[in-house]
Amino acid sequence: MTKYFQALPRLMKAFAKNPVTFVNSVNGVSSSCDARNFAKSLSNSVKGDSNSELSAENPLWSYFQNHKEGRGIWKWEHYFDVYHRHFARFIGEKVNVLEIGIYSGGSLEMWRSYFGDKCHVFGVDIENACKVYENSDISISIGDQSDRSFWTTFKNGTDGIDILIDDGGDGLEHQQITLEEMLPYIRPGGVYLCEDVHGRFNRFAAFAAGLVSELNDINFFRPGDSSVSEFQSIAHSIHFYPYVVVIEKHRVPPAALRAIRHGTEWQPFLGNHWVVPPELQINR
Ligand SMILES: C[S@@+](CC[C@H](N)C(=O)[O-])C[C@H]1O[C@@H](n2cnc3c(N)ncnc32)[C@H](O)[C@@H]1O
Repeated sequence: MTKYFQALPRLMKAFAKNPVTFVNSVNGVSSSCDARNFAKSLSNSVKGDSNSELSAENPLWSYFQNHKEGRGIWKWEHYFDVYHRHFARFIGEKVNVLEIGIYSGGSLEMWRSYFGDKCHVFGVDIENACKVYENSDISISIGDQSDRSFWTTFKNGTDGIDILIDDGGDGLEHQQITLEEMLPYIRPGGVYLCEDVHGRFNRFAAFAAGLVSELNDINFFRPGDSSVSEFQSIAHSIHFYPYVVVIEKHRVPPAALRAIRHGTEWQPFLGNHWVVPPELQINR
């Protein structure tokens, strides 16, 4: 019970900061509860195979499978499908890859092997011991990812990041601050991936769901206005997987988001305009 009361000051602060956003967010709470009940009601008679999405055609998975000795790599196995899905197009390209959370150094070598000789890997960890993994292809920065001034220094020392993998601390302050500081810094067309978003009602997942809401922003009250928000011009898509959130950035920002009719034959019942559902009749 105490934990619910502890949330009250945080909620009051959010209300004071932006009452309209707060009320609109609270409106979504009943839908979250419905989603929970729906998910609980489901059953699946098809029995699973833990590696069904993974094959030898995924070079990262093969690398991991064959990596029995040397510097340690510690990953959830289903992440390998997610990585390859979002990272494959960068193989062989001149990319800057940043992994937060080095631990025993093996994953830094894995990224370099996967992306190829033209790639440079940046590693960040809070532990000084990780500095030993530095070489001409791998740069190491020691610092706390929840410290905004650390990121300012980091950004001053690099010329852009194409792929960010956050495998560092699992706290909200680690993951949210890293996203806030680094998403704008990732180059157009780049990918941000955060691991270990664990548990129902995870607050970082809620933060990312808030970004999904921004991605869906639309202004029904200015007919013909198909302009995109700043966020829509930056974020191409947001993907959720078990324990992973991925944001892909636009290579080129869209000028507009438009629904276009092609054809000459139409049913009469919708007329020329889509009727705005009442729940969407809220201010931006
Ligand atoms: C799960 S391990 C990383 C595993 C590694 N990427 C791998 O694949 O084998 C998490 C790492 O995050 C680091 N870490 C924890 N809190 C951090 C923070 N606040 N800032 C930077 N690194 C942090 C830890 O020191 C640890 O090395």
